[in-house]
Amino acid sequence: MKNHFRLEEQLAKLHQNISTPALLVDGQQMDMNLREMQSWADTHNVNLRPHIKTHKSIDFAKEQIAMGAKGITVAKLSEAQKMAGAGIDDIFIANQIAQPTKIKDLRRLHEKINLITGMDHEWHIDVLKKEFADCSKPLPVRIEIDSGFGRCGIKPGDGRLLELAKHILAKKWLKLEGLFTHAGQSYTAKSKDEVGQIARKEAADILKAKTVLAQNGIEIATVSVGSTPTAREVISRPGITEARPGNYIFYDGIQQALGSCNFDQCSLFVLATVISQPAENKIVCDAGSKALNLDRGAHSSQILDGFGTVLNIDGKIKSLSEEHGIIILDKPEPIKIGSPVLIIPNHACVVANLYDRYHVVDKNLSVQTVPISCRGLSQ
Ligand SMILES: Cc1ncc(COP(=O)(O)O)c(C=O)c1O
Repeated sequence: MKNHFRLEEQLAKLHQNISTPALLVDGQQMDMNLREMQSWADTHNVNLRPHIKTHKSIDFAKEQIAMGAKGITVAKLSEAQKMAGAGIDDIFIANQIAQPTKIKDLRRLHEKINLITGMDHEWHIDVLKKEFADCSKPLPVRIEIDSGFGRCGIKPGDGRLLELAKHILAKKWLKLEGLFTHAGQSYTAKSKDEVGQIARKEAADILKAKTVLAQNGIEIATVSVGSTPTAREVISRPGITEARPGNYIFYDGIQQALGSCNFDQCSLFVLATVISQPAENKIVCDAGSKALNLDRGAHSSQILDGFGTVLNIDGKIKSLSEEHGIIILDKPEPIKIGSPVLIIPNHACVVANLYDRYHVVDKNLSVQTVPISCRGLSQ
């Protein structure tokens, strides 16, 4: 695994100019990850609508659109507002909006852009009603299907699906635009084969829901799926029209353990500095839980050995306090205090949300800072 990383070769130089802990992005690798997924979707005639919760960056979202993405997916209204403010005009909030206080803003946004939102209960219609009932432009909505994750959504054989679809169709201010599902249980798979089975079930369940509605005279335009582990398989299933992977822009330690990528495809790194060597086999760096997050695969079958993968030093990040990362060395050796540490995070999405900016390193090793525009936008 070691020595594959361009950034590792130039680490000393990068470390001279960037105050740590910091987020580095290998721009070339990130571009390759984006192109690969886009071309896989294009080959299968599936629209790509990447989930931006991973990178939370206006610049990266625009890059995804420039490469061919149909629009973007967000988790939160506040993310949608920020992205729309920067000119992105096709946004799916792949989530339920349940708090009445958000609905005025939702309508304002709907009037500006092509906005789609999710729902899985009639109550969501009631929440929207107060602000939308007199709206001449119908709000496109998608019903969430539970394809085995057991989070939100209606199971395809559940009678509530048809009931909800009928309720939506009865409102002239709503437009039933599609169905969506997220096979988050792929993170608990124990093998690539199991990920494949989950991807096939993800497709089969959402297509079953579409069939149930079709048998009742209700045609559905968009069949939207997606998680990074299942993306390749599910995109290739006939009948799928849209995919929403997010993590694939960076990949990370959890994706590597699941077999979604190899370490060479990871494009996001935490750059840290050795601040102490309290024992021959132990060093301390300046990246703690506020720089790396405590996630070792919380929802995963693969509980990772450590809080990130150290690339340039032979050792494991065994514990974290808020501002300190404790690295146990594979064999005792002196490590110079002040030297750099390059780490692949376990879970890129939560780590990105801890920083204000990326340092994107291009192929000539020039560094450009990119703001993490939606960082902290969880409303
Ligand atoms: C509804 C929904 N769609 C798409 C995604 C993207 O999946 P991934 O993070 O595996 O790329 C997520 C991730 O949590 C999600 O919740």
